[in-house]
Amino acid sequence: MDIATPPTNPNDNPELADAAPTPHDPPVIRREDYKPFPWLVPEIELHFDLGLEATRVVSKLTVARNAKTKPQDTIKLEGDGLELLSVKVDGEPVNNWSMEGDDLIVPLSSEAHEIEIATEIDPSANTQLMGLYASNGMLCTQCEAEGFRRITFFPDRPDVLSTYRVRMEGSKQQFPILLCNGNKVAEGEGDNGTHWAEWHDPWPKPSYLFALVAGDLVANSGLFTTMSGREVECNIWVRKEDLARTDHALESLHRSMKWDEETFGREYDLDLYNIVAVSDFNMGAMENKGLNVFNTKYVLADPDTATDADFDAVEGVIAHEYFHNWSGNRITCRDWFQLSLKEGFTVLRDQLFSQDMRGEAVKRIEDVRILRAAQFPEDAGPLAHPIRPDSYREISNFYTATVYNKGAEVIRMMRAMSGVERFREGTDLYFDRHDGEAATCEDFITAIEDGAGLDLSQFRNWYRQAGTPTISVRHEVEGETLKLHLKQDIPATPGQPEKQPMPIPLRTAVHSRSNQALGEEQLIVLSEDEQTFDLPLAGPDPVVSINRGYTAPVIVNRTLDRADLVFLAARDDDSFARYEALQELAVAYLVEAASGELTEGERVEGRSAITEAFRSILTDDALDDTMRGELMMLPSETYLFEAMATGERKADPGAIHAEREALKAALGRDLASEFHSLYDRCEEVAFDDPAGRGARKVKTQVLVYAAASDPAKAAELAAHQFDKADNMTDRQGALMVLCGLDAPVRTDKLKAFYERYTGNALVIDKWYTLQALSLHPDVIAQVEALADHPDFTIKNPNRVRALYMAFAGNPLGFHDASGRGYKMIADVILALDPLNPQTAARFVSPLGKWRRIEPGRAALMKAELERIAAVDGLSRDTFEQVSRSLDG
Ligand code: PHE
Ligand code: ZN
Repeated sequence: MDIATPPTNPNDNPELADAAPTPHDPPVIRREDYKPFPWLVPEIELHFDLGLEATRVVSKLTVARNAKTKPQDTIKLEGDGLELLSVKVDGEPVNNWSMEGDDLIVPLSSEAHEIEIATEIDPSANTQLMGLYASNGMLCTQCEAEGFRRITFFPDRPDVLSTYRVRMEGSKQQFPILLCNGNKVAEGEGDNGTHWAEWHDPWPKPSYLFALVAGDLVANSGLFTTMSGREVECNIWVRKEDLARTDHALESLHRSMKWDEETFGREYDLDLYNIVAVSDFNMGAMENKGLNVFNTKYVLADPDTATDADFDAVEGVIAHEYFHNWSGNRITCRDWFQLSLKEGFTVLRDQLFSQDMRGEAVKRIEDVRILRAAQFPEDAGPLAHPIRPDSYREISNFYTATVYNKGAEVIRMMRAMSGVERFREGTDLYFDRHDGEAATCEDFITAIEDGAGLDLSQFRNWYRQAGTPTISVRHEVEGETLKLHLKQDIPATPGQPEKQPMPIPLRTAVHSRSNQALGEEQLIVLSEDEQTFDLPLAGPDPVVSINRGYTAPVIVNRTLDRADLVFLAARDDDSFARYEALQELAVAYLVEAASGELTEGERVEGRSAITEAFRSILTDDALDDTMRGELMMLPSETYLFEAMATGERKADPGAIHAEREALKAALGRDLASEFHSLYDRCEEVAFDDPAGRGARKVKTQVLVYAAASDPAKAAELAAHQFDKADNMTDRQGALMVLCGLDAPVRTDKLKAFYERYTGNALVIDKWYTLQALSLHPDVIAQVEALADHPDFTIKNPNRVRALYMAFAGNPLGFHDASGRGYKMIADVILALDPLNPQTAARFVSPLGKWRRIEPGRAALMKAELERIAAVDGLSRDTFEQVSRSLDG
């Protein structure tokens, strides 16, 4: 990275000012244009002659006219970067085919044919990591969403379902293990040190679920007996040196299989379930039928190298991919606009699973924290889209927090409105009715309506409309009842200036502050623009506790007295509402302070209310430490950014950061003795004590406050925690705090950490991330130096994200007023785009926030976007994200 060049002022640069629009304008695909494919492909046979530099693929398709469509005398097979060797139709070589761009058009005269196509690809040159690629000497595939066309010519769309028979052959020494979807049906030795295996998957599937892996792997295996008594062999395949870190993944898989039987009545449907860990992967993991391919990050875990949060993430992703076997594979998507059909539903399923494994309250708070940090900004920015989008240029750009996390929230609302049992009747009907099909979101909604007995006509707006609704709350007392006035506003989003009201289910209770009485909870559904609800009073001084458990993904706008919020934070019987009150107290104070709206007197008052609420959190003996650790976290700067950038007001990241740090320092100072006695108590708890997890969480939170209020003491405590840690959670927590301090131990401990874990890629990723996220004043220069470190490589997505995604999420560094942070991210996008467009495009959205930020930074961000837009030959991925970010 270039450290020396000062950031350029875009207004001085004539080249940027009138940059011509790039000629490359990828077409827009629209949901309303969906047409079924004119051919069915009931069977496909694939032969792979495997080599790292050259793999030969022969594909035999059985095709037949699709009676439901208008007959066509050609078939169009998609391709991307393939070398075509030959085409045969019904066994005879033909040369009447033609190319349409990258796609192959073959004339076909009759009702049914067999097409045979030979292609050659170079996996070692595949830096996109889509299709067949080489990673660490092994070969693996990634086909979702449109990667299969990089392996062979095919109707690469999710509504074409085929049964696959695959023969793979390659060097026995290089690729001792040969894996594919389904069951292995035959294997044997070939000439010249080769061997082969033949696999058959009996379940028809779309091409995006195809997978193949060949490499030197070992497995941690375990049998699972399904509810009907069938035995399933489960394998977690890794490189030999990683085998000792796979038990947690295998156990998580078994727990997921059991849970899906008990909770959704879903049983696994093959005798084999393989998971392979690969270290070069664009995403988290992939649900290919019977052969999941995982990023090593979501497989490998042991206490020495993985934090408690990493263990949770492994369990959650293993569950997610497993649950896709029904929500995604047995029932797949008709087209990519329906992505939330499988992703939203599967995220909900993995969230419910993790709630059952680890406790509902804390998991719910974590999920809402993610929603607010990742999805709310998306919904409020230029990339906002409905959970079922209407158009795209590159589908990879729509694997978003909106489709995944808001998609899960929308289905969670259906569940809240129907109740758990009726919801189960709805999902049973859905699985039953659409098994074996490529379905739509509409099919899902109808099945839930029919099975759960709900009327979701107006609710469908949640699928159509983007933007996070804001609910304004007012009330007055009338005799024995509370009149609750609610109003919903859904902001305009790109392409959607006007919005229709949506049904918003809100679990609500009315407490009484003066006699500390807790009211009874009920579910109210706001479905009009404005509506009044009569609720019973529990006593004088009513306090409304609304959206308890976070039943709806909305922003609640209420003006509660500080005393009411303090009461809710200390006393509410819904743990989410307690958390929420505390967050609200802090958000209101920090946003007003950052906007310069508070007098010194008001500041003192605001801080002391927060201090009192925190005191009760720190000292409440009834609280579990995992929940206490959660409650101790102040709202993130991203979330404060969202809260500040409302209406005409712009966000000022510098002011937000300064105020949040000042509040941390004040809390650390005023509650020093509470914090320290808490730390001392937690320090006594052993690693494998059931209370250990909560204790570790609380300890690191205490260090965070100490770092702000008493850096010298924090350095000492953190160094001590680092030295005596017998697990990664304590070690990483301590190092995170040290990274933000300007103390000599910072350098020592970073070095010790690096040396201890040299060669362990996932832990070295942490070493990168901790520094890139740090609050150190020199963070930009440190990140620049880290990019020059020999361990950095732009070819590995985990490493790139460890350094630059972390940095883009570091409000201090990224939003540095000089614009150096923005430039650095723009440079990464430009360097990565030719190699791996999918990953490059993910770095655009941090810059896309420019419209909602104060004018100085906004101009710098916009200039970086324009600099990218002016480059010729951008990928579809980056082109789409950059142009949406500029157009808004
Ligand atoms: N379908 C995967 C999941 O969520 C995500 C993914 C998408 C992986 C595209 C790779 C490529 O489970
Ligand atoms: Zn998924």
